[in-house]
Amino acid sequence: MPKVTDAGRRIAIGVDVGGSGVKCAAVDIETSQLVGARHRVATPQPSTPAAVVGVIARLVERLGREAGAPAAPVGVGVPCVVIGGVTKTAANIDPAWIGFDAGRALAAAVGRSVQVLNDADAAGIAEMRFGAGRGVPGTVFILTLGTGLGSALFIDGVLVPNTELGHMEIRGRDAERRSAAVARIRRGLSWKAWSGDLDEHLHAIDRLFWPNLIVLGGGVSKNADRFLPYLTVRPPVVPAQLRNDAGIVGAAMAAAEAKVSSAA
Ligand code: BGC
Repeated sequence: MPKVTDAGRRIAIGVDVGGSGVKCAAVDIETSQLVGARHRVATPQPSTPAAVVGVIARLVERLGREAGAPAAPVGVGVPCVVIGGVTKTAANIDPAWIGFDAGRALAAAVGRSVQVLNDADAAGIAEMRFGAGRGVPGTVFILTLGTGLGSALFIDGVLVPNTELGHMEIRGRDAERRSAAVARIRRGLSWKAWSGDLDEHLHAIDRLFWPNLIVLGGGVSKNADRFLPYLTVRPPVVPAQLRNDAGIVGAAMAAAEAKVSSAA
């Protein structure tokens, strides 16, 4: 059970590990509101497991103190497939994460069990509970557009973890090389030109899964009006509502509710 603070709030700590920054906050898991400040430190380079675990341990200790919840559950989202706490892939993070028992290492570093899950799955959990996917039945995708493209699949609100649709092959390469948010900047494309590549990826997803709804998250979702009008894919496509905090909030919720089973 999450720690109940003097203020009566159930608090958990969420951490979102990205290619450039490690972001974290204490979260009131009943409301999704951050409790106190959100912290961000640069991802260590190289982003080896030992270096990143060290950063997370320091941040968690600080957040627990600031929120008055030193034993709050901890959830960590990482850009990796995660099975039973072990990170199985490493896109946009040091390759040493492949086969790393992140759950065990983090638990040893922070002195309590830590829920480790894919970063897009974490963001999806938050969007389904508090954001654009709230109450939506059937098949829903949350796609996070950032350095990579992350995906979270929900069937009637239940997460199917580790879907990795950023790595579908389109035109002979990883789809995220064209449709992730940084792909637009790296390739110097206009919003309209990039939205064509994103649209192609969404059509490929629709042909395979026929979702009821696609939610687009990541920092780029604040510019949704620049590219959503160009999309032609069949299902409704809406911007995420929790924006950049979704990964933090969802990781905290996963920790508080053990949302992802230990076998996942
Ligand atoms: C990774 C995913 C991750 C996504 C967003 C992809 O490159 O393979 O695991 O969810 O980037 O960070």
